[in-house]
Parts: sequence; C-alpha cells; structure tokens
Amino acid sequence: MSKSQAWTLETDEQGVAWLHLDVPDKGANVLSQAVVKALGDQLDEVEKNDAKGLIIVSDKKAGFIAGADVEEFTHVKTAEEAKAVIALAHGVFNRLQGLNIPTLALIHGHCLGGGLELSLACDYRVAEETASLGFPEVMLGIFPGFGGSVRSIRLMGVQHAMTMMLTGRPVVGKRAKRMGLVDAAVPERQMKRAAVQIIAQAGSKRVYQTPLLQKVINSSLGRKLVAMGLRKMTRKRVNPKHYPAPFALIDMWARFGNNTKRMFQAEMDTVSKLLVLPQTQNLVRLFFLQDRLKSFGKASDAKINHIHVIGAGVMGGDIAAWCAMQGIKVTLQDQDMQVIARAIKRAAGLFQKKLREPRLVQAALDRLIPDLAGLGIAEADMVLEAIVENLDIKQSLYQSIEPKMKQGAVLATNTSGIPMDDLATVLTAPERLVGIHFFNPVAKMKLVETIAGKKTAKETLAIAHRFVTQIRKLPLPVKSSPGFLVNRILMPYLMEAVNMVDEGKQPECIDKAATDFGMPMGPITLADTVGLDICLAVAHDLADVTGDKVPEFLQTWVEQGRLGKKSGQGFYRYNKGKPVMSKANVSNKEQQEITDRLITRIVDEAKRCLDEGVVEDADLLDAGMVFGTGFAPFRGGVMKYAADEGKL
Ligand code: NAI
Repeated sequence: MSKSQAWTLETDEQGVAWLHLDVPDKGANVLSQAVVKALGDQLDEVEKNDAKGLIIVSDKKAGFIAGADVEEFTHVKTAEEAKAVIALAHGVFNRLQGLNIPTLALIHGHCLGGGLELSLACDYRVAEETASLGFPEVMLGIFPGFGGSVRSIRLMGVQHAMTMMLTGRPVVGKRAKRMGLVDAAVPERQMKRAAVQIIAQAGSKRVYQTPLLQKVINSSLGRKLVAMGLRKMTRKRVNPKHYPAPFALIDMWARFGNNTKRMFQAEMDTVSKLLVLPQTQNLVRLFFLQDRLKSFGKASDAKINHIHVIGAGVMGGDIAAWCAMQGIKVTLQDQDMQVIARAIKRAAGLFQKKLREPRLVQAALDRLIPDLAGLGIAEADMVLEAIVENLDIKQSLYQSIEPKMKQGAVLATNTSGIPMDDLATVLTAPERLVGIHFFNPVAKMKLVETIAGKKTAKETLAIAHRFVTQIRKLPLPVKSSPGFLVNRILMPYLMEAVNMVDEGKQPECIDKAATDFGMPMGPITLADTVGLDICLAVAHDLADVTGDKVPEFLQTWVEQGRLGKKSGQGFYRYNKGKPVMSKANVSNKEQQEITDRLITRIVDEAKRCLDEGVVEDADLLDAGMVFGTGFAPFRGGVMKYAADEGKL
C-alpha cells in the first residue's frame, strides 16, 4: 500500500490497483497543485507494481471530485503563473492517459470541472445513476483547462461536449451514459462490480474511433459552420465583451479542432490568459462570496422537516412548492381553497420541469398538502406567513396561530417591508419571529434576505439561515429597515428609469443601456414584469428613505389597470407574454448618459445602505445585489464596480 496525504493506493486479488482520493480537512475533494503532484507520484507506483488495471475512486461521502482548487486561482497574478499551474495538471493527466493498462474512474455524487477532466484522462468511467457530472468553468470566466476541452469532444462529439462546456449545466449519471460521457450508469450497490467487470473485459487501452458524422463536423468547413451556430447560440445568452470564455473556446476549436496536439497547447494558452482577466477574478470572488452566504447556515443544525405556509398566493404558493421539491413536508393554508388549488397546479408544473421523472414528481406532490383548516400549524417546525402586506391583518393572524404552534417552532414572515418590531408586538414569544424574505420568482432567485427584530433570538435567526441553505438558497442577513437591502437599492434605479420615460426617453433605449452594462433585464422590462402596482406600492413605501418622487403617470396607469406584463400592457404591450419592442434608437453618447444615471443611483443608494448598517459589509452587499438582482456578475458587484471605477 502506498499513501500520500490525499491518495492511498492498494492492489486487489486480481492485481487491479485501486487509487483512493480523500483530501484531508475538506468536505469535498478538490484538486490543488499538491494533490495533482501527488497523483503523479502515485502513478509512478502503479507503473512499478505492474498492475493489471487502475481504478480511481473517492473516499468522500459527498462525491468524486468537486473540481480544481479555486482558492489557488486567486493567487495567480500573470498568465505565465497560470500556465505553470495548468501545465502541471496537463503533464500528470497525460501520464494517466498514457499508462499502458486500462484505467477507470468510479464516480459517485459530484464530478465537476477538474474532477471530470481527471476522469476523462481515464479510459473508462462508471457513474452512479444520480451522480452529477459537469463543467461549471464558464461560470468562473474560464473553460476546462486540464485537457478536458479536448478529451470531452473526442469522447462525446462536439455537440454534447460543447453544450456541457458552454452552458456549465451538469448532467446526471443516466443522461451521461446516453451522451457517451460514461460507460455505465448504475445504482450505487452495483458500482464496484461494474468497474471490476469493465477493467477485466477491457484487457487493454481504449481505442477512440471517430464516427463519420464527427469526421464531417471536424473538417475545416464543418468546424466553420458549426462554430458559427455555436457563437450565435451563445450570443443569445451572454455578451462576448462581458463573458469572453465561451467564445474563446469556440474559436479555439474552430482553429485547431482537427489537431489534438495543438488543441491541448491552445487550451493551456487560452485558459491561462482567461484566468487573469478582471472578469474572471470578479467571478471567482463571487464564488467565494457565495460560500460566505452558505456558511451562515452552519450556525444551527436544526433541520426543518415540516413547514406550514400560510397564504398560497404568488409568493406563499411558490415558496411551498420549492420547499416540497427540496424534500420538506409542506402544509399549505389559505383562506381560499381555489388559491391553494391554483398553487398546487403551478407546483406540479414546476416539479415536472425540474424533476422530470414521474416517480420524483409524484413524491414531491405527495409532500405538498393542501390544508384549508390549518391543521399543520401544530406540527410544523416552522410556520411561514405570506399573506397580504398589512400590519393589522398579519398581527391578527399571529394572535390566532401562536397558541397553536409547537414549542420551539419558528414563526417566519415573508413581509417585504413591515418592521419586525412592529409585527412582534402582539406575540407572547417575540423571540421566535424572524423575517425570511424571498424574491419573485421564487424558483429562479437564489437570494433570500433574513431579518432579525430587536427581540428575535439568535437561535431563531440561525435556524432561519439553516433553513434557507437547506432549501438550496443563499441567506443574507439584513437590518429590519424599509425595503431591506435589495429592494431599497433597486427601487431608486427603477424610479430613475421611470423618470427618464417621463422625460421622453424611449423605454427600449433605457433597457438597452442597462443590459449592455450587464444587467440581466432592463429596468423598464423589470418594472413591467414585477407589476406596476407592486412597484408603485414599494416606491411609495420607500419614498421617505430614497427621496424619490413617483411620477404621476404611474399612479394613473395603475388606477386604469395598466399593470405591466400581467395585464398585457405596461410600458410595453405584451403579446402572448412577450413584450412588443421597437429597435432602440440611441447614440453611444446618449446611451452612456443613461447608463451613468441608472448606475449612479444604485451606487449611491448602496453607499447609504452601508453607512446605515443595512448589511454588514461591502462584500455582503455585493453578494446580495448579484444573487438578488443579477447585477452584472462579471463586474463583481456594486461596490467592487464602484471601487474599480473610482466612484467610492
Ligand atoms: P398574494 O395576494 O398573491 O397572496 C396572499 C394570499 O394570502 C392570498 O391568497 C390570500 O387569500 C391569503 N390570505 C390573506 N389573509 C389570509 C389569512 N388570514 N389566512 C390565510 N390566508 C390569507 O400576495 P403575495 O404577493 O404572495 O405577497 C404575500 C407576502 O409576500 C406579502 O407580505 C408581500 O409583501 C410579500 N412579498 C411579495 C413579493 C411579490 O413579488 N409579490 C416579493 C416578496 C415578498
């Protein structure tokens, strides 16, 4: 047996070497330079031992390998330094591929980024049916750089490999089998047997044969045409100026796709350059901020097994559905059975879209229980209230439910702005009240603000954080002040946009300025989507703190029922739910002025929030705005952008 800090090598009775990975002091295996180097040493041992085959497996419960060690990316300052890191992995993975015995990666749980690339340097892969295999690199501003871009295309063909690399979306084991990414996808109990069998039957190295269609695609004309299509598809999702990585990958393949050696070299060169771009460094920073938000959830280990949601409207209905999808038992109450029925219908649509398998869809539906009478209140670990935004109505509900609630259960409110201390006055145990503020649409928005009142117990807030991470969202603690953080900063920006329309600017030009800056949606489209009535109400609520004057025309439109997308007419007219837009007619200079006005409002309000302590620090503010509004992630957040532009 040979052992390094992370790797353990042993040989079974059949003479097959098993190389186990268990990176010390980490919940998941990550490929740091040290781990990659140590893999090289283990390969020396494998060669010396004359093994009949090699199986690489992870001893971590969570999965195979989560990826390269992103922390190390932050120390890389120049493209040359980046290249040294990448060249090390290339060298070791090439040796793995070059071993003269059959090699196999045995994959359970996550197998991502550098981990998937390592598995691709093996001849064969056996995955657990539900394993998650993916290339998330584009989210960090790069693409697979440890030989994965070359090997994935060789194995699966351009279409599947490019889709995985360009979108960053993972696939489950079963689908990976259909795509040719793995050789077998089996239940956990059969994994070992499948691996041993494949190695025994293989006898020798895998020989790659390129199907005719791939040969045609790989011809110089084929590559030219396919690359054009890929660029077009990718441009629909991201702007090449903001996110150059996917386009660099397509260009690289278009140039060198018929020459493996040059592809490997080009991969090293291109990814090294991408790694040190400011966009990449910003995205890497956000990756760690996301971890910081997740870590709030570690302050408690109280799992929520049953949540009772009161109010099955837009928010309550969707929160209930999301929780049921994440495995929690949900009882859903409303004063109107019709509303509950509509919420359950919406939930069924969500489950079908996300879970697909009928067995899983049915299980999620079984967990979502209509509860007109509120019987769930007495049994739930958490009662989450999402009824109308009105202090008196919410308080009278609290008075009626508090005596029924289980000892130790948390009372959460989804209020978008009523102060916790006002809500708590009617409670016998105000320490159990906490704000858990979701964003609309619930299934899409990752951020959830959490709000403690003066009397909220520390433990209650900790349970709220744990709950938010339990349902795979990101908790952000904010102060109980008007609009909390995200709406407080977003509203002045929306009002600036609305005022510009009042001044006679074309809505399309305003939206274009924002999306060209990197916002996921223009402010005018956003206002229409949220609903002009809701915008108006929030704007009025926040007028005292933001100092914004709400234009009269907005009030008139709302009175006339012109509410935006939901009524078919707002700033834009909607045809089958899609806005009918004209071409934006704007000069560069004018567009720049619009952008400056919009973004200045965001930056100024953000600074005010920091001064007032609405959120603990600038990093958390940045995380909140990126994960709560989609604020241009490649710019690293509002305050990071302001600092980079000298606007602090
Ligand atoms: P909604 O009007 O769609 O739903 C409220 C539901 O509560 C209705 O179905 C109503 O029948 C029910 N309800 C009212 N009083 C009740 C009672 N005493 N017992 C049982 N059910 C009762 O409202 P929406 O938009 O879902 O908002 C709910 C809460 O979430 C509000 O506090 C709102 O401020 C907040 N919120 C709303 C967001 C949005 O975008 N709509 C975003 C974030 C928070």
